[in-house]
Amino acid sequence: MSDTEYELRAKTAPEWVDVAKSDFNAFLKDHAACERKAAALAMSMVQHYPDKPDLIRGMIDLAMEEMAHFREVMKIMLDRGLQQEDDEKDPYIRQLLRLIRKDGEVYLLDRLLVFSIVEKRGHERFSMMGEALEEPKMKDFYLRLAKAEYRHYTLFVELAHQYYDSVEVKARLDELLDAEADIVSNLPFRAAVH
Ligand SMILES: [Fe+2]
Ligand SMILES: [Fe+2]
Repeated sequence: MSDTEYELRAKTAPEWVDVAKSDFNAFLKDHAACERKAAALAMSMVQHYPDKPDLIRGMIDLAMEEMAHFREVMKIMLDRGLQQEDDEKDPYIRQLLRLIRKDGEVYLLDRLLVFSIVEKRGHERFSMMGEALEEPKMKDFYLRLAKAEYRHYTLFVELAHQYYDSVEVKARLDELLDAEADIVSNLPFRAAVH
């Protein structure tokens, strides 16, 4: 494992995938919303850090990739005659966002690390979904998305190391990983990504 890689501290139980598959249409709707919000978030990072060229380059690429994911999930939804629902607050994301300290100095550090963890959790869950699905096209789709989320997780943590001291990054990551494990373990499973 390289310096910028890490493991999540709470593994998702296999029952999650059963719940998610039990209402796969609801899962798809939630997944589409996740991709759309991820793209919007990457674009908001572009706007907020005009003095950080590497972050801007990374976030524009990320926004485009998340939009490509959104286009693919939306196509699957439209083929099934599914409509988007009104956005509802994702309880996992809401609790994680509360961990972000708003002080100027550490705001970016916390954002990069929290977003990295969200991508890593996405990687875990899309891998589980890909392994559980039988229809080859959908299986490949989720396994391919899982690989993309893995890259996104490393992108965020590498940016954190670029802009902050590695001792500080590791210490904060350690706290956030514990907090995320706690949050994810206390949430009921839904037919949703989180
Ligand atoms: Fe994505
Ligand atoms: Fe992503």
